[in-house]
Amino acid sequence: MKTRCFLFFVYLPFFLFSQGIKITNGPYIQRMGENEATIIWTTNNDAISWIELAPAGNDSFYAAERPQFYDTSHGNRVIGKLHHVTVKGLSPGTGYRYRIFSKEVLGYEGHRLLFGNIASSEVYRNKPLTFTTLDRDKKAFSFRVVNDIHGKADNLRAMLKDVKKENTDLVFFNGDMISTLNDEKEIFTGFMDTAVELFASEVPVFYTRGNHETRGKASSGLYDYFPGSNGNFYYAFRHGSVFFLVLDSGEDKPDSDIEYSELAQFDNYRDQQKEWIETVVTSPEFQSAPFRIVIMHIPPAGSTWHGTQDVAQKFLPLLNKANINVMLCGHTHNYKYIDRGEEQNIHFPVLINDDETYLDITVNSRIDIRQKDMSGKTLHTHIIDSKN
Ligand SMILES: [Fe+2]
Repeated sequence: MKTRCFLFFVYLPFFLFSQGIKITNGPYIQRMGENEATIIWTTNNDAISWIELAPAGNDSFYAAERPQFYDTSHGNRVIGKLHHVTVKGLSPGTGYRYRIFSKEVLGYEGHRLLFGNIASSEVYRNKPLTFTTLDRDKKAFSFRVVNDIHGKADNLRAMLKDVKKENTDLVFFNGDMISTLNDEKEIFTGFMDTAVELFASEVPVFYTRGNHETRGKASSGLYDYFPGSNGNFYYAFRHGSVFFLVLDSGEDKPDSDIEYSELAQFDNYRDQQKEWIETVVTSPEFQSAPFRIVIMHIPPAGSTWHGTQDVAQKFLPLLNKANINVMLCGHTHNYKYIDRGEEQNIHFPVLINDDETYLDITVNSRIDIRQKDMSGKTLHTHIIDSKN
């Protein structure tokens, strides 16, 4: 009895001062694969979190008890404000409905936790959120690419306002979405809140790190918000007939530059990445794919800056032998198409997208790339077939 009274007085201030649990950002989809997906969101207060998952369908989400999947780490459920729930064992090319939940943690004394209210996404008046897993057998699909948004969320809105799960399977954020990451909140104010409002709860974002996202006090936390499928910012996956190779070109100046304040170690990082690229491009899964697209922020040509040269020297010898159909880059804030053979040391086409245009790409028996401006007008078209 004494213990209970003690706990009541310990927790009383939390009851009095708690503003109540709220979902503050998200949810958005990461690590979408053929068999798994990760849902990420934040809350204003500490909470434990989970999702409920239902198959796609027109029945009510309340029709049956839905399986729950928890935010866990090393066997424990996670208490915090940033929530990740990974669901595994999914089927390829299959639609699912989901609902997110966070239960506020008001106090943690000894082994006792005191819980507050639960915040959740709504499935009563609103339709539950949905996603569809990737599928290597899908005959045709479309995706978008934007880059160098630099926190200009209005530009992102103009370029991605019509993205829906019905017309777009995935969206690449190809680097420099923010100029400097001083506070993790800037991920949301700079671009991710807009992406969630438009599509990112239902259409997965695949993140490519740019050189600017390596900078700032909060930059080391970026991976928690955009976890690649293999523990790195460089990763690979297959969807439809395309094997996507997402690379991290790192910083653009030499590691010793005064601007990096002794923190940069990107030469070593690109060496490690080179080893990984070698294992991927020699894998049967890579070699048997009808198309191979590389997504990387800094183009491997057009500049004598160190980042460009190091990427070219370390990655190109491997990629030149790997039958790459096209590489999509950003960074320069200027559109440029480098056709095969134009640069002596690059054996595949490289498309550099502008910061105020987007790439609207459809893949079927060929890759149809439209570079469009913020009004949706097509500026350039590139058709790439499997012989390219
Ligand atoms: Fe950049």
